[in-house]
Amino acid sequence: MLEDKILVLDFGSQYTQLIARRVRENNVYSEIFPYNTPFEKIRNFDPKGIILSGGPSSVYGKGAPIPDLKIFDLGVPILGICYGMQLMAHMLGGKVAKAAKREYGRAELIIDDNSDLFSGIPPHPPLTKGGSRGGELRTIVWMSHGDRIEKYPAGFTPIAHTENSPVAAMANRKRQFYALQFHPEVVHTEKGREIIRNFVFRICGSKPVWTMKSFIETAKKEIREKVGNRRVVCGISGGVDSAVTAVLVHEAIGDALTCIFVDNGVLRQDEAKKVEGMLKKSFHMKIKYVDASGRFLKKLKGIKDPERKRKIIGNEFIRVFEEEAMKIKNVNFLAQGTLYPDVIESTSFKGPSATIKSHHNVGGLLKKMKLKLIEPLRELFKDEVRVLGHELGMPDEVINRHPFPGPGLAIRCISDITKTRLDILRKADVIVLEEIRAAGLYDKIWQVFAVLLPVKSVGVMGDERTYDNVIAVRAVTSVDGMTADWAQIPYDVLGKISNRIINEVRGVNRVVYDISSKPPSTIEWE
Ligand code: XMP
Repeated sequence: MLEDKILVLDFGSQYTQLIARRVRENNVYSEIFPYNTPFEKIRNFDPKGIILSGGPSSVYGKGAPIPDLKIFDLGVPILGICYGMQLMAHMLGGKVAKAAKREYGRAELIIDDNSDLFSGIPPHPPLTKGGSRGGELRTIVWMSHGDRIEKYPAGFTPIAHTENSPVAAMANRKRQFYALQFHPEVVHTEKGREIIRNFVFRICGSKPVWTMKSFIETAKKEIREKVGNRRVVCGISGGVDSAVTAVLVHEAIGDALTCIFVDNGVLRQDEAKKVEGMLKKSFHMKIKYVDASGRFLKKLKGIKDPERKRKIIGNEFIRVFEEEAMKIKNVNFLAQGTLYPDVIESTSFKGPSATIKSHHNVGGLLKKMKLKLIEPLRELFKDEVRVLGHELGMPDEVINRHPFPGPGLAIRCISDITKTRLDILRKADVIVLEEIRAAGLYDKIWQVFAVLLPVKSVGVMGDERTYDNVIAVRAVTSVDGMTADWAQIPYDVLGKISNRIINEVRGVNRVVYDISSKPPSTIEWE
């Protein structure tokens, strides 16, 4: 790729991915490398600028992550954030010490020099009683540090301070090195976006040419070159990532792509039909629909343990997929919707402990069939995949779908899985989704679904006593599924959902709403 690139070196901050996203929002490509990436690789990447991320370590601590000193001689601008700032001070001859007072959270930054990094930040109305002087450039930033700069390295001057940090930002203009004690990448830093923009454009001189359009063209070309006249197989699940992967690969190589949709018997109602319909009708793709529900349900019979359910479904999926893929002649590649966060998790600072999360574990398949991987989304974040889907003309309904777990309804049908129980769950699930959509809440919620509990409760319908199933409704808000809060759905919407389920779904006489956050609960019940 010929576009300008900003390299983010990762020192283990929880915000590292956010830095790359903020850069990309400006149509400048950004990639994250682990802090100990060999210098050669960094030089070959040819970055227009480097950002050193924050991190939990202290530069003087045992085993503190230290990058190759030669990065400072590359001749490109460098921005250090938090740990990145201390690292710069430490490596370039300054002094870092434990701060007398640790600073976490909101702080008021007073800008002493707004000639480049802080350019264009307007004066903030004074916030501290009596403390501020009129006309001062003040802005709210997000701090999180325990160390501070005691002596800055030669050539640096302070460009901003806070009440507790005399050097909250420093610069060496000659070498184009900048450092911030706070996090410009988080939304709590009011002018964070402007600061990153200033670094990317004013200081690094990048050009904003990385757009989804250019991404699509490059990706298509690369796929074509890689595949040649061979064939590609792609498993689709109804999820956004696999659907966008399939459409993109199809745009590149047309009918040399065969998609396989495995119905594992634990899909939502009409799921297979909807996805198949969209991909076939709008994109004229070749799709092999494989109804393997009988096989899966037989294997799942009598299984109550959630992890065993997951294993059975994962293994059976590989078997079915393999059988179908083997039938395709001349197939050499498997296209998969791996995203950038999965890639970084397996290679970054955190080390290889977190292995690549693939929707279905296809490792064995690759070996046995000697398939090579095509992962055209491996440089993208989830929200970028959605933009890409839009650009490819995919409907909102597919692009904005809530995540759906690989083991599907098997882990929402608590305890025993039978066809009757799955049917009850499916009907209740449809009503939940219909009412959430009708209330305009679908896009505000991370996931919403019904869970069929393994308890029966007493009810009364008409004059008759009933002893029937309980449905739990689960709806959560979240940014990444790692933490989540239960969604505050209006009572009238919950009331409608409950009424409809009890009236329309035979076998259910009670509906409850799950009001647990994650942690300590999880999103799924199993
Ligand atoms: P939990 O229940 O762990 O879920 O809070 C977090 C997110 O992961 C999804 N999930 C899964 N996805 N296979 C998947 O593909 C699984 O086995 C699985 N278990 C949970 C869940 O739907 C939520 O989005």
